[in-house]
Amino acid sequence: MGLSNINIPLLLLSLLMFGVLGNAQLSSDFYSESCPNVTIIARRLIQRASRTDVRLTAKVMRLHFHDCFVNGCDGSVLLDAAPVDGVEGEKEAFQNAGSLDGFEVIDDIKTALENVCPGVVSCADILAIAAEISVSLAGGPSWDVLLGRRDGRTANRGDAVAALPLGPDSMEILTSKFSVHNLDTTDLVALSGAHTFGRVQCGVIANRLHNFTGNNGQSDPSIEPKFLRTLRRKCPQGRSLTARVNLDPTSPDSFDNDYFKNLQNNRGVIESDQILFSSKGAPTMSLVNRFAKSQRKFYKAFAKSMIKMGNVRVLTGNDGEIRRDCRRVN
Ligand code: HEM
Ligand SMILES: *[C@@H]1O[C@H](CO)[C@@H](O)[C@H](O)[C@H]1NC(C)=O
Ligand SMILES: *[C@@H]1O[C@H](CO)[C@@H](O)[C@H](O)[C@H]1NC(C)=O
Repeated sequence: MGLSNINIPLLLLSLLMFGVLGNAQLSSDFYSESCPNVTIIARRLIQRASRTDVRLTAKVMRLHFHDCFVNGCDGSVLLDAAPVDGVEGEKEAFQNAGSLDGFEVIDDIKTALENVCPGVVSCADILAIAAEISVSLAGGPSWDVLLGRRDGRTANRGDAVAALPLGPDSMEILTSKFSVHNLDTTDLVALSGAHTFGRVQCGVIANRLHNFTGNNGQSDPSIEPKFLRTLRRKCPQGRSLTARVNLDPTSPDSFDNDYFKNLQNNRGVIESDQILFSSKGAPTMSLVNRFAKSQRKFYKAFAKSMIKMGNVRVLTGNDGEIRRDCRRVN
């Protein structure tokens, strides 16, 4: 009786710590015995797919972000809706629908891995590996990816809608959407630097260009006037809502620190980008300046924040499963 009374609070404390701090059990050599070629295989397939799609690396890196922010890095974003199994596809959340992409190359990687080491590599880990490969293929930093995540058995569309940040989110909301995952202001600014590649649809920035705060014809005053004219030409009011513009107008497909220089010139494309520099008194401004000045510091901070993000509420040990097909639970 004494024993169990002592152990329960300890158990609860350790569960709480694992839940809050992420899991220290991930390791970079997790597959060194069970599937040593995992990175080589993934890299080859991402390289091949990016030959016919210049945006592919951006798409793939965003998948890991949208996975980790919704109930942790558990591969839930990859599950197709399956009402009989109680799986609500996160793909249908409005932030993802018609927007999130790159699922096919993840399927290809999974198929290739199932051929050489069946039942070993989780889909959640494939996303973490693929994000690092994508950033490095686009010219950005490399880092040691921590591995050993297992796949969740469920997905939650409502959680995706609530957790994923939106362009018009205030600084306060952006900060809180990151801090619930233990990601701080430095992480917010460094990770937003992922908008150094990829595209945004006109519909997302339409209000910023034509109907700011509900005033028809008005635009966000924080946009540099010449850049505003360019954006308005590419995204005319009420038209081309699914047309895409570059998130980084100066080097659209390479992973560099131009994103931060653009913010200094009031050429951020999404509101949540420009707000990092233009929000009066916010601690994010000095971080933007630091990363604009030093690509090396940006790369270092980005790699560190990616590892932090990759630790969010991971499943390890006997939790979850290793999915055979990333689109459905076993
Ligand atoms: C800070 C809050 C963020 C907001 C509000 C935000 C919002 C968006 C939006 C609205 C798009 C365009 C989607 C579309 O029009 O289809 C986008 C694209 C993208 N986001 Fe973010 N994002 C944020 C942070 C991040 C982070 C932390 C990452 C990764 C670490 C990331 C990676 C990307 C990438 C790579 C693209 C381009 C994808 C493509 O070309 O298909 N974003 N984001
Ligand atoms: C890994 O790849 C190398 C070179 O392609 C190959 O020789 C080796 O057999 C592979 N190992 C496994 C375990 O598949
Ligand atoms: C502008 O925004 C307001 C408030 O969101 C909305 O009611 C109105 O219909 C919008 N106008 C146009 C032309 O889109």
